Amino acid sequence: MQIILCDSAEQVGARAADLVEARLRQGPAVLGLATGGSPASTYEELIRRHREESLSFSQVTAFTLDEYAGLPANHEQSYHSTIRREFVDHVDLPLEQLLTPRGDAADLVTEADRYDAAIVAAGGIDIQILGIGANGHIGFNEPTSSLASRTRVKTLAGATRADNARFFPEGEVPRLCLTQGLGTIRDAKRAVLVALGENKANAVRAMVEGPLSAHCPASVLQLHQHAVIILDPAAASQLSLLDYYREAQELNDQL
Ligand code: F6R
Repeated sequence: MQIILCDSAEQVGARAADLVEARLRQGPAVLGLATGGSPASTYEELIRRHREESLSFSQVTAFTLDEYAGLPANHEQSYHSTIRREFVDHVDLPLEQLLTPRGDAADLVTEADRYDAAIVAAGGIDIQILGIGANGHIGFNEPTSSLASRTRVKTLAGATRADNARFFPEGEVPRLCLTQGLGTIRDAKRAVLVALGENKANAVRAMVEGPLSAHCPASVLQLHQHAVIILDPAAASQLSLLDYYREAQELNDQL
């Protein structure tokens, strides 16, 4: 794992955007997109580079990580609508190249298989942007998810439903979702996880320095050959090897 320690959310966004930009400059790319608060500064910076520095997404195919079951794509709280509002509608990524699992599919199991196969058919994900839940989930792979799992239907953990309750009228938070699996995420050529804030600090520590364990699904990134973890000071605050990460970062930045 490569750990990048940043001073602010803006710097986290800039470092993640650098990685995305470097890949886009090489030609057509497949991106995996997380929704939520964590990647907001990354998307803001990518939008700025699109507007001010002509960074183009016209050759990008994008797959979202997950979607609530039961919500049609055009529902205000669907992840399809959210990623459009927060990122895709502000850049030149053609809408037909934005792919999300269909949360309102009649047969969710078949839809999950179809989505996983579509990622493979697109040549796999070049850069998967990830956030981490306070319980260590990535995508909606809740604790005890199989480390080899593929895109599938999952039950949301109570903690995740509580975290997301603010977006729904009382009692209407979905209980099921479709999510790329941990095996699917592991197949991405590069994984870029961004984490901000103190409430992620324990999960970040478990992911980076804890045992490989389905109890902390994000720890599967320990098996990834090209995982980059970009942290603000609060999210990094529980790490025990900070001096080592700082030194490695200094040397890496000189390469
Ligand atoms: C969202 C997703 C989740 C979030 C995680 C953190 O597509 O896959 O894993 O990244 O729940 O959410 P935020 O960033 O809102 O704290």
